[in-house]
Amino acid sequence: MKETKMRVAGIALAVGLVFGMNAARAAEIEVLHWWTSGGEAKSVAELKKMLEAKGHKWKDFAVAGGGGENAMTVLKSRVVSGNPPVAAQIKGPSIQEWGETGKLANIDATAKAEKWDSLLPAGVANIMKYKGHYVAAPVNVHRVNWMWANPEVFKKAGAEVPKTWDEFFVAADKIQKAGLIAVAHGGQPWQDFTVFESVVLGVGGPAFYKKALVDLDQASLKSDTMVKSFEVFGKVRKYIDKDSANRDWNLATAMVINGKAGMQFMGDWAKGEFTAAGKVPGKDFICAAAPGTDKGYTFNVDSFVMFQQTNADTTKGQGDLAAAIMSNEFQEVFNLNKGSIPVRLGMKMDKFDDCAKMSSKDFVATSKSGGLVPSIAHGMAVPSATAGAMQDVVTQFFNGTGVTPKQAADKLASAAKTK
Ligand code: GAL
Repeated sequence: MKETKMRVAGIALAVGLVFGMNAARAAEIEVLHWWTSGGEAKSVAELKKMLEAKGHKWKDFAVAGGGGENAMTVLKSRVVSGNPPVAAQIKGPSIQEWGETGKLANIDATAKAEKWDSLLPAGVANIMKYKGHYVAAPVNVHRVNWMWANPEVFKKAGAEVPKTWDEFFVAADKIQKAGLIAVAHGGQPWQDFTVFESVVLGVGGPAFYKKALVDLDQASLKSDTMVKSFEVFGKVRKYIDKDSANRDWNLATAMVINGKAGMQFMGDWAKGEFTAAGKVPGKDFICAAAPGTDKGYTFNVDSFVMFQQTNADTTKGQGDLAAAIMSNEFQEVFNLNKGSIPVRLGMKMDKFDDCAKMSSKDFVATSKSGGLVPSIAHGMAVPSATAGAMQDVVTQFFNGTGVTPKQAADKLASAAKTK
């Protein structure tokens, strides 16, 4: 009896060794993300495909809600209850906040084997590391300061695509007079904040944006330039239709696609919607820097962090996921669908459209000129609590609660002190 037991154990060990050494068993990799719109879903499907090609099982943990606020709330409750997913879409300074919990996995082995230090811009590599160790894998670079326009709408209204905020008001008036909606927008705090940061960049320029919204310099936050930014931002409100409350961003994009509205101020994930609808830039739609912002670039880098695992197969799966994310193949196909550009350096751009080529060119140019700045609305610039408090001020102002631009600037300056 004893002998049989030992023999069985011996066989099990041998089998285990064979499988363990040659191929780890398929792991189930649960991935939290908020990519549920048409273009986003197509993009994340590519990641799933690549992970499955490596023999693992993808467990989808999608939490709808643009900008990821809902996803972050759900993630926190899962981690608090001791049940984190294997990987989660977390980006910017939040990676450091999560690093402090001590629950993130060190993925240096994959990063070293795949030479990430030489394949990533140094600034991006730093964001992906906690105390010098890689804990996250970046997928892309989104540009936030875009304007998406429908050329037919502009033609009908006899309007020109605006290059400055002054020109914007002229064009928007014409579009409204023609009986169309000038600005497609969804009344959600993160969308308000997205428009606001483009206005600040356009009114104040990149150096001002950086002082006010990245360095949180009190004098800049209360300055006349910030008051002016709130004035311009408040006027944009008049060009949004009355049904905008709580509209999802991709439904706002659809209004531009369908010719109901003239323009949308949104990051280039919006391009993913145009692409998914079979639309061609330059012909069916126009991509241009938001008014006054062609010398600036608000960046937003999406990434996945890995949570520590006790199971060796799952750890192996995490490494495979991280390696897949940074592969040439994935960076190309994912970003073609997502509207962003590859974060991996030295990638060929020939399959990308003109908007992506422009983004890539401007990314390089602004990284030299100082025009490259992190997006505050998309969690790249300041800690999440600070960004949240500032977003509240911006949204309250935009929703016309009787706050003047001067008062709003002062409130923004106090909110910036939130830690
Ligand atoms: C951003 C994210 C993008 C896109 C967008 C809308 O914060 O970085 O990848 O998904 O939200 O959901």
